[in-house]
Amino acid sequence: MSEVFETITVPRLQSMKDSKKLVMLTAYDYTMARLLDPHVDILLVGDTVGCVVQGGETTLGVTLEQMTYHATMVKQGAQRALVVADLPFGTYQQGASYALDAAITLVKEAKVSAVKLEGGVEVCTSIEKISQAGIPVMAHLGLTPQSYHAMGGNKVQGKSSSAAEKLLADAKAVEAAGAFALVLEAIPAELAREITEALSIPTIGIGAGTDCSGQVLVINDLIGLNESEAPMRFNKEYCAVRELIENAAKSFASEVRAEAFPDASYSY
Ligand code: KIV
Repeated sequence: MSEVFETITVPRLQSMKDSKKLVMLTAYDYTMARLLDPHVDILLVGDTVGCVVQGGETTLGVTLEQMTYHATMVKQGAQRALVVADLPFGTYQQGASYALDAAITLVKEAKVSAVKLEGGVEVCTSIEKISQAGIPVMAHLGLTPQSYHAMGGNKVQGKSSSAAEKLLADAKAVEAAGAFALVLEAIPAELAREITEALSIPTIGIGAGTDCSGQVLVINDLIGLNESEAPMRFNKEYCAVRELIENAAKSFASEVRAEAFPDASYSY
C-alpha cells in the first residue's frame, strides 16, 4: 500500500503558523526535492538557481523557461511539501497582466501551487491580480536580490528608521493585496519581529532573526556545496558536501590512474 502523506496546502500553512515554526528550503531538481520533501513544509524553487546552479553573480538572468524547467522537476519529486516558484526578473516588473501570465505558466506547466515575487507597494497590483486568479502569492521584502543594482549589492536592509517604516508599510500592503506569506530577508531581528506581530499572514525569515513564523535557507548553502568567498552571515552550513564530493572525485581519479578501478568485482 502506498504511504499517505499530509499534503501541505496554503490554508494548512496559515493554520500551522501559530503552533509551529514553518520550514522552507530551496530545491532546483527532482533528486533534491525527494530528499527534502519529508522534512520541510515548503519547497521554494528560488531564482537563486541563477547563482548556485548556473554560476551567475546575480539572479537577474534567470528566465521564465528556466524557472518552469526547474519547478517541473521539483514538483515531480515533492509529495508533501507546498511547491512555490519564483517569478524571475523581467516577468512582472512591467505590470500586473505580465505577472499573471508568468504565474499562469508556472502553475499550468510546472504545476506549482504558488508563486513568489519581490517588492512592496509597487507590486501590490500584481499580487492582487494573481491572487484573484486563484494563484497564491508569497511576497518577499528586505534584501530583494532582483534589485541587486539598486541596493548596490546584497546588503542588509531596513537599518534606518525611515527604511524600517517603509518596510513595515510594504509588509502591510502586500498582506492587504492578498499575499499568503512573506519572506523577510536580511533585516534587523527587531524589525522582523515587529512586522511578524503586525501581520496575520506567516513571515518566513532568512537573516531576519528568531521571531519570524518560519525560516528558509538556500539548500546549497545549508549542505556546504557552494564555494562562497563572502557568505552572508545568516548562512549556516549543516554539513560539508563539497568536501565529500571533492574527496570522492579525487579517490576515483587516483584509482582509475592506478588501474585499481574497476577490478574484477565491478566487471561483467
Ligand atoms: O531565490 C531564493 O532562493 C529566495 C530565498 C533566498 C528566499 O528567494
